[in-house]
Order: sequence, then C-alpha cells, then structure tokens
Amino acid sequence: MKYALITGAKSLLAHSVIHSIKDDYFFFLVDIDPSLIEAYKDLPNFDVIIRDITKENAVDTIFESISKKTDRLDLVIHMAGIVELGSLVEVNVNTLKKIFEINLFSIYQINQRFFPLIAKAKGRIIHVSSEYGRLLGLPFHSFYTMSKHALEIYNDSLRREVQEFGIKVIKIRPGAFKTSMQSRIISQFKQQVEFTKLFKVRLTKLQKLMLGELKRAKDADKIVKTFRRAIYKSHPHRAYNVGNSLKMKILNYLPSGLQDWALSKFF
Ligand SMILES: NC(=O)c1ccc[n+]([C@@H]2O[C@H](COP(=O)([O-])OP(=O)(O)OC[C@H]3O[C@@H](n4cnc5c(N)ncnc54)[C@H](OP(=O)(O)O)[C@@H]3O)[C@@H](O)[C@H]2O)c1
Repeated sequence: MKYALITGAKSLLAHSVIHSIKDDYFFFLVDIDPSLIEAYKDLPNFDVIIRDITKENAVDTIFESISKKTDRLDLVIHMAGIVELGSLVEVNVNTLKKIFEINLFSIYQINQRFFPLIAKAKGRIIHVSSEYGRLLGLPFHSFYTMSKHALEIYNDSLRREVQEFGIKVIKIRPGAFKTSMQSRIISQFKQQVEFTKLFKVRLTKLQKLMLGELKRAKDADKIVKTFRRAIYKSHPHRAYNVGNSLKMKILNYLPSGLQDWALSKFF
C-alpha cells in the first residue's frame, strides 16, 4: 500500500485528484473544514485529520497521528492555500503574514517534519502554485502573487537539495478553476471596494474585469490529467501549467514599460 498526505483536501481540485487515484493510496486527508469527512465517505482507504495547519503544534499533532500508521509517505500534495486581495499601501501587514503562514510556512514545516517518511519512500512532493507564481507583480493582487512566487523559489531550492534522496519535488501552476476560492475572490473584491479610500475607481474597474475572467474558469475535474502526470510519470516535469490565461501570458512577456502602461489601463 502507498501512503499519501493531502492538505486542503476539502478543495474541489483535491477532491477530483484524490478520486482519480483512490485505488492506489491510503490517504491522510487534512483540512480546517470538518465537512471534509462527508465529501470522502466513498473512499476505500483514508484517515481524516481536521486541523488549522498554521496553528502552533498542528504539524506535530498531524505527524503523531500519521506516524502511528506508517513510516513512509509516497506522496504529499500541498493543496491548502488562501487568496487575499487589496492595496499594498492600505492593507495591514497581518494580511501578508496570514497568507504566508498558509501558502508557504505551513508547507515548509510539513515537508521538514515528514522528510524522513518521504525519503524512506523516495516519494513525491507536489506544491500547488498558481499561474501567478511566475507572473509579473500585479497591483491589488500582490499578497497572493508574492506568496506563490516565494513558494516557487522554495520548491526549486528544495528540489535541488533533496534530489539525492530520490525525492521528486514538482510544482503545478493552475489558472482559474471553479472552486470556493473563486467565490472568496468575488466577496473580497466587494469588501476592498468598500474599504479603499485611495483606489475606489481602479478597484471597481478591476472587479468587473476579474468577474469576466472568473466566468471563464474551468471545472475542477479538468485539472486531473495534469496531476496524474505529476503523480504517475516515472520522469515527471519539474513544473506543469494547466488552464493558464493567454492574456496573462502575453502580458508577462511584454517589456516592463508596456506592462506598466497595460496595467494602468486595465488594472
Ligand atoms: N481555484 C483556482 O482557480 C486556483 C488557481 C490557481 C491556484 N490555486 C491553488 O490551488 C489550491 C487549492 O485552491 P482551491 O481553489 O481549491 O481553494 P479552496 O477551495 O479554498 O481549497 C483550499 C482548502 O484549504 C483549506 N484551508 C485553508 N486554510 C487552511 C488551514 N490553515 N489549515 C487547513 N486547511 C486550510 C480550505 O478550507 P476553508 O475553505 O475552510 O478555508 C479549503 O478547504 C490553493 O493552493 C490555490 O492557491 C487555485
């Protein structure tokens, strides 16, 4: 039996991926949301661990309960993540701390704590980045972008450190997919438009643009093929892009002067 640890397992993306590999693993499913249990009742082999992974000692508690069952981990998927929107000159630094706690620090702690088990299995670590993980710095969307850029650098450094143990470290960069994160983006935009004193006009314009983009979001099950490649291929790619926006890709390759002009028009 192979063993997999999945954080943010309540995510619809995680749900689709886990069901597509359900016969090959015993799953340790971690999420802050207790309704997780209901979502997986048809899975053959799994344990559920309800925890806020950013809380002190949470990773130790998760480790204790998993290490009672296994001394090896073949797969770790870091799906837990949050989004935060707003202006760099208006939003409190605690927002930045909070997003880094989940999108980077908890990942760091989990990989470090479980390293012996992952090394024993010559396992795979999959970091769920985002298309924003390699995009230019965007106004009002920078907390998330900063956290995913940091995750990408962490991913690359870790891959190079642990390759001698036979561990594969892979990053996946999804574009927009229909999950509860999308509804959070919509409600956060509403809050920020009300909250801002300096950027009401620009944030209102950006909100409309984002709503248009979110309508084009793909169904969660469209991500499965990419994850299966990362999980099963004997020589997986170091990074996979899936469902990325062509507009954003083009914007990314423009010279900085043109990027600033385009962003001042549309963002
Ligand atoms: N959906 C997209 O378009 C998209 C695009 C690019 C990248 N991604 C990335 O894909 C991953 C999954 O995103 P998603 O869209 O599926 O989001 P989601 O639906 O919000 O799923 C994330 C899950 O993580 C859980 N979680 C959040 N904070 C946690 C914590 N401190 N401890 C334990 N669990 C926690 C959430 O619980 P709660 O819901 O209770 O907070 C939620 O169940 C994220 O890393 C995200 O950045 C998503």
